[in-house]
Amino acid sequence: MSNDGVNKGRRRLLLGATTALGAVGAVGVAVPFVQSWHPSAKARAAGAPARADVSKLEPGQQMIVEWRGRPVWIVRRTEEAIANLPNMDDRLADPESNRADQPAYIPKTPERALRPEYMVLVGICTHLGCSPTYRPDIAPADLGANWEGGFFCPCHGSRFDLSGRVFRAQPAPTNLVIPPHAYLDDATLIIGLDPEEV
Ligand code: FES
Repeated sequence: MSNDGVNKGRRRLLLGATTALGAVGAVGVAVPFVQSWHPSAKARAAGAPARADVSKLEPGQQMIVEWRGRPVWIVRRTEEAIANLPNMDDRLADPESNRADQPAYIPKTPERALRPEYMVLVGICTHLGCSPTYRPDIAPADLGANWEGGFFCPCHGSRFDLSGRVFRAQPAPTNLVIPPHAYLDDATLIIGLDPEEV
């Protein structure tokens, strides 16, 4: 799938998108946007936030932003993928994310997201720190007929669904980490700040 400046998989690392704030319509968006972006002294001391323009992400695509030296994935999920998330629950180790490292304001639902369309994850395996691969394809030959899209860690084979929830009996003990983040507007995602910090 070709695209303009947007990564699919892990082809390329976008270092803090600097695209001007977009003027994308906000139809149907339920999550309130923050009104301005003025990081608190506490947030600045902890490290610079990263900014990502998600307006060019097409359904099914992934982009990667560096935040505090770590890759943060932003995946725009399709409507079908979102609808399928609850069907994964009985195969997962922690479907309600009770043991997951994620901000308190992120709902412990199958979507694990402020906006279900966008999944935001630290792209580091919770086993021994490799970077899993985004695999949205359905039932590929190398991952088997039960694969319905998700993240696969090549180091020791851990499998995660499209919400970063780990399947049962995997080397990885917990779901992938969700970093603090907030939406500045319809197009702009700020990583590294809680909504109340901006
Ligand atoms: S580091 Fe990912 S499975 Fe071991």
